[in-house]
Formats: sequence, structure tokens, C-alpha cells
Amino acid sequence: MNAKPMDKTIAVIGAGLIGRAWAMVFARAGWNVRLADSDADQLAHARAFIAASFDEQQRYGLVTDARAALERIEHAASIESAIEEADWVQENLPEKVDLKREIFALLDRHARPDAVLASSTSAIPASRFTEGLAGRARCLVAHPVNPPHLVPIVELCGAPWTAAATIERAERVFASVGQTPVVVRRELDGFVLNRLQGALLSEAMRLVGEGYVSADDLDKTVRDGLGLRWSFLGPMATIELNAPGGVADYCARYGDFYRRLAADPAGPDVWDADNAAKVGAALGTPRSSEAREARTRWRDRRLMALAAHKREQPDSE
Ligand SMILES: NC(=O)c1ccc[n+]([C@@H]2O[C@H](COP(=O)([O-])OP(=O)(O)OC[C@H]3O[C@@H](n4cnc5c(N)ncnc54)[C@H](O)[C@@H]3O)[C@@H](O)[C@H]2O)c1
Repeated sequence: MNAKPMDKTIAVIGAGLIGRAWAMVFARAGWNVRLADSDADQLAHARAFIAASFDEQQRYGLVTDARAALERIEHAASIESAIEEADWVQENLPEKVDLKREIFALLDRHARPDAVLASSTSAIPASRFTEGLAGRARCLVAHPVNPPHLVPIVELCGAPWTAAATIERAERVFASVGQTPVVVRRELDGFVLNRLQGALLSEAMRLVGEGYVSADDLDKTVRDGLGLRWSFLGPMATIELNAPGGVADYCARYGDFYRRLAADPAGPDVWDADNAAKVGAALGTPRSSEAREARTRWRDRRLMALAAHKREQPDSE
């Protein structure tokens, strides 16, 4: 029996921050990309951004031929024309449920019957915008982290009616383009990544807002502390090494302390405007838009160097 040919054409719907990054992920892995956006200026900005980023990625060994990768990305005149040939459709439109519902209905009508329809939504479960679709078994959330061309995690989460084969195909496709897929087995608010991020951020907002630590020292605590191990081990693998008897031993030794903390979590009020103002003041004067752009480029260069380093290292000893 012939193996099914690899998926090779992706329609990327929306050319904003996330859409342009997905276009790069797939194009540098050899896919043909059809990029669609209702705003022609966004498409032009995306192309300039992608061209500059590919040149830089080539310097870090993250793309082998920047020009060939750029040429694999075509702009489509409409969403319908972007998806007609596509094996994979990745939607990246603004985070509004009505818009997702409308676009998924259109995608389901026009995409090839064997195409998978994925949404990059940060927080809207697929069951909220795919329920009434004839092709709902081929729909799922594939939630990235910004910027996905430099941060490989992608959370896969289906609705109750998403076929197991759709999730399995998504795992294969994202792994084949160099991402790190993880499966969220049941829908839940925030999926997994933003629940973890939310727990840490709520506590950080409390500690800085109540003046226990400066914003800068809090950042150092993660940047030069927890984050160093987390960039290659993760918290579960970390605690396994922090007590001689593994996780059960760790919980026996430190469980009482963590139980006390868990009984007194940061409350929702840490997100109120007055605490946000305190944290903002602790961070100092907001950057100008030029300074933000320069810092974003610096962040991306650091991420490229880190991605190149991680590619060289074994995943385990
Ligand atoms: N930015 C992040 O950090 C991040 C991270 C993970 C997931 N996401 C998710 O990815 C999705 C996209 O976010 P983003 O940050 O790229 O947004 P964005 O605002 O940068 O991009 C959205 C794009 O959609 C286009 N658009 C809007 N309506 C359209 C329509 N009807 N037809 C065609 N194009 C249309 C806009 O012109 C724009 O280019 C959202 O669901 C968001 O929750 C964002």
C-alpha cells in the first residue's frame, strides 16, 4: 500500500503577528504557503517582515535558503482562493468568537474534504465555533506561542467531536515542520500553557504590586533562576531531580509549604486597574514604539540563538 503523501500546501488565513509566523514555519520546512488577509497593507508588511526575518534566521541556521523559502509564500486574493488547494488550513484572525464561527463555516464549505481546519485561537475552545459544521470532525485548535517561528510549542485541542485521526495528523504535521506539538485531551479554559502562565503571572502581579520585590528583580528570578532549568527540563522533570526519592519524596518534603501557599492564592483583584498601575509604575516609563520594535527584534535574535543552541543539544542525557 502506498503511504499517504505528506501534506504540502497550507492556507494561512490572517497575516498578522501569528499568521506571518506560521507562514515562515511552513515555508522553511518546504511547504507551499497561500497567505490571505483582507487588509492589503498587512500582507505587504508581512512580506517585508518575513523577508528580513528569513535573512536573520539563515544566519542562525534556522532556514537553509532564505530566498527559496520566501518564494514559497504566495499572497492569495481571497480566503476562498487560498484554501482551494490546501491540505492544511491555519486560521489566525482576531480573537472574536463570532468571526471564528463565520470563517470556519466558510472554510468548511470551500476547503477540500480531506483538509484539516485549525485555529490559532488563544482561548476559544473549538466547540464554540465548529458545532454546526458538516466537517466538524476535521476541526481543532492548534494554539501557538508568539512568535511560533522561534518558540516551537503548539497546543492541540479538539472539540468533543474532533476525530482522533485529526489530532494524530496534527501531531505528525507540526512535528514534521519542527514544532513541538502537545495534546490537551479535554477542552478547558486557557488550555494548558496559559493556565501555567496565568498562575505565575498572577503571583508576580501580587508580589510586585504589594512591593515585596522590584519588577526587575522579579524578572531576574525567572530569567536567571527558574527559567534556566525550565528551558530544557520543565517543572515536573525539575522537581523529580530535587529530592533523592523523586516526585513522591519531593512532595513529602515540601508539600506542607506548597499547601500553605495554595491555600492563599493571588486573587482576581491583582488584575484590577489600580494594581496594574502599580506594576506599570514599577516597570518605569513605557517605551516609545521605536524602542519597543528594537526590543522585539533583540528578543527575536536572542530566541534565534537559543533555538539554534537547543537544536544542537540532546533532549536527554
Ligand atoms: N499575538 C499573540 O501573542 C497570540 C499568541 C497565540 C495565539 N494568538 C491568536 O492568534 C489569532 C491571531 O492573533 P494575532 O496576534 O496574529 O492578531 P493580529 O491582529 O496581529 O492579526 C489578525 C489579522 O487578521 C486580519 N483580518 C481581520 N479580519 C479579517 C477577515 N475577515 N478576513 C481576512 N483577514 C482578516 C487582520 O487584517 C490582521 O492582519 C488570535 O486568535 C489570537 O488569539 C495570538
